[in-house]
Amino acid sequence: MNGKDSGSLGDVRGARGLFPATGKTAYFNTAAVGLASRALVAAYHSYVDDWAESGLDYVRGEAAGESARTAVAALMGADRGDVALIASVSAAAGLVAAQLGPGSRGQNVVIGEREYSSNHYPWRLLAKKGYEVRQVPFRNGGLEPEDVAECVDGGTVVVAFSGVQTATGHRSDLRAISAIARGVGAIVFVDGSQLVGALPVAGDLGAVDVLAVPDHKFLLNAGRGLGYCYLSREAQDRFVPLNAGWKAGRVPLESFFGPTMDLSPTASRFDNSISWLAAIGNEAALSVFDVFGADAVYGRNRELAEMLRASLSEAGWTPVDLPEANRSSIVSVPLGDREPVHLVAELKRRGIVCSARAGNLRLAIHFYNDEDDIARITSALSEL
Ligand SMILES: Cc1ncc(COP(=O)(O)O)c(C=O)c1O
Repeated sequence: MNGKDSGSLGDVRGARGLFPATGKTAYFNTAAVGLASRALVAAYHSYVDDWAESGLDYVRGEAAGESARTAVAALMGADRGDVALIASVSAAAGLVAAQLGPGSRGQNVVIGEREYSSNHYPWRLLAKKGYEVRQVPFRNGGLEPEDVAECVDGGTVVVAFSGVQTATGHRSDLRAISAIARGVGAIVFVDGSQLVGALPVAGDLGAVDVLAVPDHKFLLNAGRGLGYCYLSREAQDRFVPLNAGWKAGRVPLESFFGPTMDLSPTASRFDNSISWLAAIGNEAALSVFDVFGADAVYGRNRELAEMLRASLSEAGWTPVDLPEANRSSIVSVPLGDREPVHLVAELKRRGIVCSARAGNLRLAIHFYNDEDDIARITSALSEL
């Protein structure tokens, strides 16, 4: 993975050709689901054809899962031995929440007020175990470290938040929030759904205990079925692999029966059994990052997001005003009194795909977007 250390922006501008849907649509919906590459589609066709003709090759599926683990670890800047295959962000949060015993007086978890449910409900449910759940109000569509600091105290056991907020594109100051959490010994849980694959995260990984990401957005397999969960070594040592089965064994394909339990010495002891079909898709989908190098993808995303931001502002559709450090590849425009369902449908009628979330028109950039897409959405919005 990341065979190219620093790919060129010139090459990545041609990425569009690898994604058939870009021929017809101006696609700004990667924050919901990413587009399929030709490589993904070909891999699925070939695997399903073989399946029909000769039976499903699950060993091949397992190997694809390992290759996908390696690829996502590289995007995270992690050792592949520190990444578990866990189906969803909610499952990763649930795994962490389940590690906590009954809460004693004063113990609490701190989360963002408007976090996505997968990074909200698992913590909310800790109230049943006696933890106080503290929700930090959003400013500018996200968490500001000072506000987190007001909620964290010696009783805080977890601080959970999104690396990038899905509705607003606000990028969290991961290191600053982590320093507050770690100052009291709390676990730092980061939902990386709108971060990993879109923006560099490797430089911040040391500030994180658990980083979870599903496959269906910026990792480019909208068919979904696989998720990735980085666990720091300390987290691995501390947590019990509550869902361990054959897949958590040192050699999974030789771990079907007892009488002994030989768990993997790496984070794979936290693995869930995987969808082989999804693994085949993920391996292929992630190979596209290798074509250009992740740095080129991030550079292009930054360039296009800034262009989109400026173009929308000029057209009078002013995005959520974020300091540069809090910007991401999601650009959201507060809709005020405008009716979101009608607006999204009208844009779709014009071949522009995006979503409305929490009162914003949400436009997500990925490296298969281009300047024409930006011109198209800007001119459509100017007419509406
Ligand atoms: C911020 C965020 N977190 C998590 C998810 C997905 O959660 P899960 O993997 O639990 O379905 C999404 C979207 O699907 C999301 O936008």
